[in-house]
Amino acid sequence: MRHLITPLDFTTEELERLFDLANDIENNKEKYAKKCEGKILATCFYEPSTRTRLSFESAMLQLGGEVLGFSDAGSSSAAKGESVSDTIRMISAYTDICAMRHPKEGSAMVAATAASIPVINAGDGGHQHPTQTLTDLLTIRSLKKRLDNFTIGLCGDLKFGRTVHSLINALVRYPNITFVFISPEELRIPDYIIDMLKEKEIPFKEVIRLEDVMPELDLLYMTRVQRERFFNEQDYVRLKDFYILDKEKMILAKPDMLVLHPLPRVNEISVEVDQDPRAAYFKQVQYGVYVRMALILTLLELV
Ligand code: CP
Repeated sequence: MRHLITPLDFTTEELERLFDLANDIENNKEKYAKKCEGKILATCFYEPSTRTRLSFESAMLQLGGEVLGFSDAGSSSAAKGESVSDTIRMISAYTDICAMRHPKEGSAMVAATAASIPVINAGDGGHQHPTQTLTDLLTIRSLKKRLDNFTIGLCGDLKFGRTVHSLINALVRYPNITFVFISPEELRIPDYIIDMLKEKEIPFKEVIRLEDVMPELDLLYMTRVQRERFFNEQDYVRLKDFYILDKEKMILAKPDMLVLHPLPRVNEISVEVDQDPRAAYFKQVQYGVYVRMALILTLLELV
């Protein structure tokens, strides 16, 4: 039995197979419409979500399966003090596979240890968000036809942004990737990631001004400042609008640079950018469903 806790749980070869399957699902939906008949997905979300939870549910329904779960810790027995380990034992008796989001780092791993069904980490605190990474990689691969030879800028809240941490972990396995980290001093990328890049001799630089690096980027990954992970509101208010991607900044970018964002956005991408053909963040949402369909089929060994 396999789980998905970090993006590194799949080799790059396994990811290639997963992305090929996702693209096949995209083009032949009817072929997969009954693959999960009789199977049940649990979505256990202890933290708010729109895309991840609903795209998992949409994925399972489009595969012919059923879904159950909770979208708020307060409506589960977590509110009475039940542990994640005990909850997943119950969920294992009711369902075939579980997607779990939790505010505590490491909770998905705890759940996987106690589960007798595959567990998918749908975000654990500021740690990892592997299915967002699968979505990001599938989007890049589908639109750019490759996952190597890129200069990628990651902009915004690089300290708390789990999507950023997961994406870097995944991209270091591909050749010729250069990272440009664009953040205010207070939201710099964590030292453990810098140490990992140095150890692997992967080129990177850290800058504060987005304008200074726009012309050199092949991909720009924008992120929201993670209000829910700040200790005080004043710091959040001071930093929340540090970066706003607008038409003027897009003029500085390469004609084929892609703008990605895991969403939700707050103010960091002006809505005027949505019309730009380089804006790929709403396409990402659709790829998120295909890759989660492929993941469910793979973990349930139905392909
Ligand atoms: N990208 C993402 O994780 O969005 P949600 O928080 O809405 O699930």
